[in-house]
Amino acid sequence: MTLQLRIYVPPHPLIKHWLAVARDAATPSVLFRTAMTELGRWLTYEAAREWLPTLETTVNSPLASCPATLIDPEMPIAVVPILRAGLGLLEGAQTLLPLASIYHLGLVRNEETLQPSCYLNKLPEKFDPQTRVLITDPMLATGGSIMAAMAELTHRGVDPVLTRIVCVVAAPPALQQLSAAYPGLIIYTATIDETVNDQGYIVPGLGDAGDRIFGT
Ligand code: PRP
Ligand code: URA
Repeated sequence: MTLQLRIYVPPHPLIKHWLAVARDAATPSVLFRTAMTELGRWLTYEAAREWLPTLETTVNSPLASCPATLIDPEMPIAVVPILRAGLGLLEGAQTLLPLASIYHLGLVRNEETLQPSCYLNKLPEKFDPQTRVLITDPMLATGGSIMAAMAELTHRGVDPVLTRIVCVVAAPPALQQLSAAYPGLIIYTATIDETVNDQGYIVPGLGDAGDRIFGT
C-alpha cells in the first residue's frame, strides 16, 4: 500500500464559525484566543477519532457486566505545540487529551529569509516508537517551520504515521513539502488557503497568529 498525505477539513459549523472569527481583522485578542482554543478543541476531537489508542475490557454497571472500550493509559500520547502560536491551540487539545505529555518546541521565522530557527527544544532525546504525537501550529505557510519540527521529531524516533498535525490555515507550499517528505502523515485544518505572499503571509489567512494571540 502506498501512503499519501491526508488532509482533513472537517465540515463542522463550530469549526467554520471560529475560523471566521479568527480571520476577522476586527476580532480583538481576547476573542482571537477563544477562537484558537475552540479550534484546538474541535480539530483535536476530529483528529482523535482514529488515532487515540483504545483497549477492550468489561465494566460492571449497577445491573450487569458489559463490554467496554477505554482509552489505553499505557500508550504514550504527546502534544507538541510550536511556540508561540501553537500555544493558542494547546488548551483545547489538552482538555481532550489530559494524559498527554506536552513537549514545547520554540521556532521563529527570520522576517527576511523566512527560515525558522529554534530557540527552545523540550523534546526528549528519544520517543517510545509507539508514541502518538499531535503537533499544534495554527499556520502552515512556506512550510519551513513544520518541516523543521517534523525533522526534530522523526530524528528522535517519532513515526510520521502515528503523527497528527492540528492547524487552522494550511497553504500549498507547506502541504507540498509535507506530502513529499512524510506521505503517511495526517493533517486536520480548518481551511486550506490559496497562496503565500512575498512576505510569507498566507492570503487570505488571518494575519500573524502569534501576535494576535498575545496582543503584540
Ligand atoms: C508562525 C506560525 C508558524 C510559522 C509558519 O510562527 O505560528 O510556526 O509562522 O510559517 P512557515 O510555514 O512559513 O514556517 P512565527 O515564526 O511567526 O512565530 P510565532 O508563533 O512566535 O509568532
Ligand atoms: N505565520 C503567521 O502567523 N501567519 C501567516 O500568515 C504565515 C505565517
